[in-house]
Amino acid sequence: MRAQVVIIGAGPAGLMLGRLLELAGIDTIILERKSPDYVLGRIRAGVLEQGSIDLMGRAQAGARMHAEGLIHHGVELSFDGDRQRFDFTQLMGRHVMVYGQTEVTRDLMAVRRSSTIYEAEDVSLHDFDGKPWVTYRKDGLTHRIDCDFIAGCDGFHGICRASVPPPAIATFERTYPFGWLGVLVDQPPVADELIYAHHARGFALCSQRSAVRSRYYIQVPADEKAEAWDDARFWDELRSRLNPETAEALQTGSSIEKSIAPLRSFVAEPLRFGQLFLAGDAAHIVPPTGAKGLNLALSDVAALADAFIEHYIDRSPAALKGYSTKALQRIWKAERFSWWMTNLLHTFPETGDFGRRIQRAEFDYLTGSTVAQQSFAENYLGLPF
Ligand code: APR
Ligand code: PHB
Repeated sequence: MRAQVVIIGAGPAGLMLGRLLELAGIDTIILERKSPDYVLGRIRAGVLEQGSIDLMGRAQAGARMHAEGLIHHGVELSFDGDRQRFDFTQLMGRHVMVYGQTEVTRDLMAVRRSSTIYEAEDVSLHDFDGKPWVTYRKDGLTHRIDCDFIAGCDGFHGICRASVPPPAIATFERTYPFGWLGVLVDQPPVADELIYAHHARGFALCSQRSAVRSRYYIQVPADEKAEAWDDARFWDELRSRLNPETAEALQTGSSIEKSIAPLRSFVAEPLRFGQLFLAGDAAHIVPPTGAKGLNLALSDVAALADAFIEHYIDRSPAALKGYSTKALQRIWKAERFSWWMTNLLHTFPETGDFGRRIQRAEFDYLTGSTVAQQSFAENYLGLPF
């Protein structure tokens, strides 16, 4: 087989890249280790920046998102029960859209016309410094695809970044001593907008998927097990971290999903190795606090797609040459914001009372300064793609 670009991974990054290239007449094959059902079973975050909304439109995959996505004009931050609403429309004249990553993936899968090979095992990259080719196993047979380029969109645990010889790649990492325990429930959201809450017992987030489906998270120690949390314990703990009115309004029920995600900041540099390019979680991880993971994956592939289009259509190598530097500038800004928001809102036992006072001062500064609020809103809404 032959393709101009072989894309490894059919998460949002791989599917969006594949779609943008297919619309430009560039032929791609996507290799995905899991089945479509498995990919669609993963529950992940759900806040889209304007750049992501626009990109779904460019991919001609935005119809259901526009019909079902919820436009949010603001967000609430609460600190030990003191509440502050950030009015995005007033501060920056923009908004975000709440629409699950699973739905983004489903819509991108539905519009794709080119080949996606699911349940492709043992994907291996060859000669990406020269004339690249990729092998994989399916139904007991080994297959080979020759290509011009490989796009590594295979997430944090994928094979692409791992295939780069260690001296050629630098990684930067911060792990946090806690994770998020998330619960999905078929109950109306507790509020119209998202609530990010700092509390001495730990961080909590009230999010949503629709008018009848909610998503809640609480900070838990990194070694905690989801099985240790039955629904009643989760709701009690969540209520204890919210201000009394919100806690009172919370509508609880049986969870339909419950899982723990670790928090990590991670960046690999550079993003190009010969004819191999990394994008999305394969290249970087942000803690979910700023809702940047999906948006960052999409901004990477928007830049990468444009670079491939310049290469094939305009016959210019400049954008492919510049991809790594350009994408990393935006990546590091999103890393900074996600790290900052994580630091503001979580409890860090090791920083003690001093750390708590600093967090309180940060919150008071935010609530007291329109300029600080604008800076928060500018980053939360997303820097330009
Ligand atoms: N071979 C083929 N496919 C692979 C391999 C492999 N060796 N390893 C991983 N994959 C697949 C995974 O099964 C997954 O479907 O690559 C895909 C990567 O998708 P995501 O993890 O969703 O990563 P990405 O598309 O970059 O999207 C980033 O996902 O993790 C969230 O917060 C993150 O929202 C962000 C988004
Ligand atoms: C979610 O709805 O899953 C969600 C929302 C906002 C975040 C993180 C996760 O910052």
